[in-house]
Amino acid sequence: MGKDVIIACDFPNKIEALNFLDLFIKEKPFVKIGMELFYSAGPSFLKELKRRGHKIFLDLKLYDIPNTIRRCSRVLSYQYVDMFSIHASGTKAMMQAAMEGATREDGKHPLVIAITQLTSTDQQSMESDILIHEPIDKVVMHYATLAKKSKLNGVVCSALEAQKVHKVCGKKFLTVTPGIRFDMKNKGDQKRVMTPAQAKRAGSDYIVVGRPITQAKDPVAMYKKCVKAFVG
Ligand code: C5P
Repeated sequence: MGKDVIIACDFPNKIEALNFLDLFIKEKPFVKIGMELFYSAGPSFLKELKRRGHKIFLDLKLYDIPNTIRRCSRVLSYQYVDMFSIHASGTKAMMQAAMEGATREDGKHPLVIAITQLTSTDQQSMESDILIHEPIDKVVMHYATLAKKSKLNGVVCSALEAQKVHKVCGKKFLTVTPGIRFDMKNKGDQKRVMTPAQAKRAGSDYIVVGRPITQAKDPVAMYKKCVKAFVG
């Protein structure tokens, strides 16, 4: 898989998600299915998306004891997903368990990606709410290194950190970067943001774009604009 734009399909149900995806006639965008849509539409929806030709990033941000994560990752590895996410803060033991569980009998596995620090948090909220007093980029690099040692395929981080992650963990270690905006006045709850072109220059492998596409007047045109700016 190469550089791509992943659309965050943050819809409350399958009908709204399919109405949105039906707008795309020629393109088959890589889609991110988060908790809201997965919990409402269920695993059969993943099969349907695959049948329609989409690649799937299942973003459930798993976090639990290693045994539970191993078992859950095993289930996900047979659920048509190309990529899924777990929290790096769940420890190295938890990430290693995820890789063990995700690896099928033929040795293949979906891409397993670790969440470092949510792009909706910043230095201040990290210090006041989760009592982490290290600089945010040090925290992200620590989680990325831990994920690499646990043999994960990459991390979710802000595009602001992508370059450094590649420097520390190597070019093949994937950076999946949400917090993408064209209009910096419209950040919403995101704090660490970049444009698609800036993310490209920073070396992001995948950008995750939600509201700027899903709430655009013309989502297909906005998606194409993102692809042009990011993939070229
Ligand atoms: O609408 P917006 O472009 O902000 O959507 C970003 C998507 O990426 C959301 O689905 C959000 O859950 C997800 N995400 C994120 N930050 C992370 C991990 C995932 O914003 N660290």
